[in-house]
This record gives sequence, structure tokens and C-alpha cells, in this order.
Amino acid sequence: MEKLIINGGNKLYGEVDISGAKNAAVAIIPAAIMASDKKCIIDNIPDIEDVHCLERILKSLGCNVIKEKNTIEIDSTNLTNTNACTEDVRRMRASYYFIGALLGRFGKARVDLPGGCPIGVRPIDQHIKGFEALGADVVIEHGAVIIKADKLVGTKIFFDVVSVGATINVMLAATLAEGVTVLENVAKEPHVVDVANFLNSMGANVKGAGTDVIKIFGVKKLKGCNYSVIPDQIEAGTYMIATSACGGEVTIKNIIPKHLESMSAKLMETGVKIIPNGDSIKVISSGNLKGVNVKTLPYPGFPTDIQQPMTALLCVAKGRSIVNESIWENRFKHVDELKKMGAAVKVEGKTAIVDGVQKLTGAVVKATDLRAGAAMVIAALMAFGTSEVEGIEHIDRGYPHIEDKFKMLGADIKRVKK
Ligand code: EPZ
Repeated sequence: MEKLIINGGNKLYGEVDISGAKNAAVAIIPAAIMASDKKCIIDNIPDIEDVHCLERILKSLGCNVIKEKNTIEIDSTNLTNTNACTEDVRRMRASYYFIGALLGRFGKARVDLPGGCPIGVRPIDQHIKGFEALGADVVIEHGAVIIKADKLVGTKIFFDVVSVGATINVMLAATLAEGVTVLENVAKEPHVVDVANFLNSMGANVKGAGTDVIKIFGVKKLKGCNYSVIPDQIEAGTYMIATSACGGEVTIKNIIPKHLESMSAKLMETGVKIIPNGDSIKVISSGNLKGVNVKTLPYPGFPTDIQQPMTALLCVAKGRSIVNESIWENRFKHVDELKKMGAAVKVEGKTAIVDGVQKLTGAVVKATDLRAGAAMVIAALMAFGTSEVEGIEHIDRGYPHIEDKFKMLGADIKRVKK
């Protein structure tokens, strides 16, 4: 077990490189097993535990996998195993993409139900609705999804809720279905578009990703390709918020400014200066911020995955801020931890009412999930005194080398064994 020790109070200065997007990479890696010809070589893969977990799942299925720095080579040409039932599959959320990928390629799969961050009930009914509409039979037995189809046939599917996972999963299976599939009320997140682009590089014919309707013209087979994952908009947002909260001047490199617009707009409302420049963005902050109201929404709205870091920032912003979490019903576990540092926050259902305090003070706090972990790090970086952040295995699932990146910006942060 490890923890982070952080002496707060330093302003942040310098440059930080953003890694490949976690939520794109964790879908693209399972999608690569759909290539029955040639291997996939995927670049800009983030060095995070969720990716390591996927590597182990690929190997347990029988794929040849070579990982070097930020590149992963996946050769699944000889793959025949359609059972993904391991501890790793049960541990992470994105393992559910093996259902769509295996169903598309082999017409069957047995995949253990996924795990992931405890941020609320996380049903997969919309994934199943989509697979069934394509002609698959689905049962859930002994904690696994068992799915099979004589053949998959394209159809029109209207999702009841906007779901990133269901959009991507059904899109995977539909690339190898007969005829045309039309997905309506889909998620428009940049990672949905990235997965569609990856599938098209493999020979699929997916159109409309990034809009409300995705049209998939089924093809007979997919082949390996070379691809590079988009930058992580949530990692970028985390460093933007940290700089805003601590004060300082940081250039955030290797990003797509368009993907950060909702976060930039909100930070500017707090009084921060944001200057986009090509594939980087500069954040300049005095550290004196004013409170704002935030409501999380599907893209292009303010991302739920940055709500927790933003709540940490608002703890020291002048006046009252109202944070409304509209995607997950239990994504305020970080609030109790923030209170240990002197924050004045009250949670009522899916709303947090934050009254800005002069300063936070260092404390022993816990990362209860991935983004709660990022919130704790940001709170500790701006707090007066020393904090210990425990539960950092959650942070390691999604943030590559967080302590090294913050150290480069002048933070006093170190990782120690517990
Ligand atoms: C993805 O989760 C991300 N995870 C989450 O990121 C992110 O918070 C979420 O999308 C929303 O942007 C990955 O990409 C691996 P959803 P996902 O399906 O796909 C309801 C992070 O911190 N719903 O878009 O599981 C659901 O309950 C993580 O990086 C159904 O009702 O989320 C939720 O209220 C955490 N039925 C809403 O839709 C379904 O079948 C959105 O969920 C599916 C979802």
C-alpha cells in the first residue's frame, strides 16, 4: 500500500504534458481484438492501472501483446477464446467492451460483469437492449453476461439514456453486423468519436460519431491498423483546476482545446485567465477565485468526471457555489474528506452547496474513487500544512505518474509506502 504526502501552499509553474485519454484507450484496446487480420499498433496509451489490467485480460484471452512505453501492439489474429471471466474483468468498468467486441467478431461471448468506481448504480441495461436489438440472446448467470447470436443484423436503436458505454459497446458489435445500424440519442464525448475513428481505421464504416445519431454500415471483417489515442481531456482539466486553485502559471501541453471548452469557460468565470495556443493551453491564476454554479451534463456540457476536482477548488472560492451532479447519484463521497480539511460543504441529494472558506488545512484523507482522489490531491496542494492522501490505488487507475507531473510544476508531493 502506498500514499501521497503533500505539503500544500506552493503555487504551480511550468509545463505539463497530458497523456492519452483513459476512457478512449480503455475502449480502443478491447476493440482491437476485432481485427482478424494483422495486428493493431496503438500509440499514446496512458501508463495507468486500468490499461495494465486490460493488458492482462488480453493475454488471458490468448492475444499476443507487446507494450513499450506508450505504444501497445495487439495481435489477435489467432484468437478463438470468447470467455473473459477473470478477477481483472470483474475489477474494472471498461471490461464490458469485451462483450461488444467478442460478440461482433465471434457471435458469442461470456464476460464477467464489470466493477469500477463506486459512484452510483451502474446498470448495463442499455448495452443489453442494443445487443438484443441486433439479434443477440443475452442471459446473466453466475455473475457473467452470456451472449450469443446466429447472426447480427443492423437495425435502429434509440437509447433511453445518453450512455458513453452503451454507445461504444453497441457500436463495436454493429461494425460487423449485416446491413445498417442507426444509433439514436447517443453519447457525443470525444472518446466516442475516437473509438469510431479507430474502428474506421480498422476498415469499419461508422458515420456521425460526435452527433446525436451514429450510422454504422456493417462490414465483413476488420483488420489491424496504426492509431494514436486522443489526449485526455479529464487529465488536462485536473491540471487546469489544480493551477487555478493553487495559483500560478502552467502551460498544459498536448491537448485539444475544443474538448476543454466547458471547463475553460467555468474556470474563467471563477476569475482565472485561460489562453489556448494550438495544442496547448495556458492557465494563469492569482489563486483568488470567486464561487460559481456547476451542473454536470453529457458532452459538450461540464463533465461529471471533473466535478469532484472542481468541488475541491470551490471550497476556497469566495461566496457560495452550487454543484449539481446530474449523471451519477453517489459522486459526493469526497465531500466528507474535504470537510476534514475545513471545507464548508453540505450535500443534499445530487447537489452540493459549497461555502468558500479562507483556507483548507492539511489532514489525513482518503481517495474513495478515481476522481475523488484527484480532488484530494488538489485540496492538499492548496491546503495549509501537510496532508496524507490514502487509497491512491484509485488514482493510479486513471492518472499516469501524478506525483511526478505535479513535482515538475513545483508541488511538494511524494509517494511513500504505508
Ligand atoms: C463512462 O462510464 C466513463 N467510464 C465514466 O468515467 C464517466 O463518468 C461516464 O462515462 C459518464 O461520462 C468509462 O468510459 C470507462 P454511462 P459509463 O453509461 O459508460 C446510466 C471516470 O472517472 N446508464 O455514460 O459506465 C448510468 O447509470 C469514469 O473516468 C443506464 O441507466 O457511464 C448513468 O447515470 C467514472 N443504463 C448514465 O447512464 C446503462 O445501460 C451515464 O452512464 C448505462 C448507463
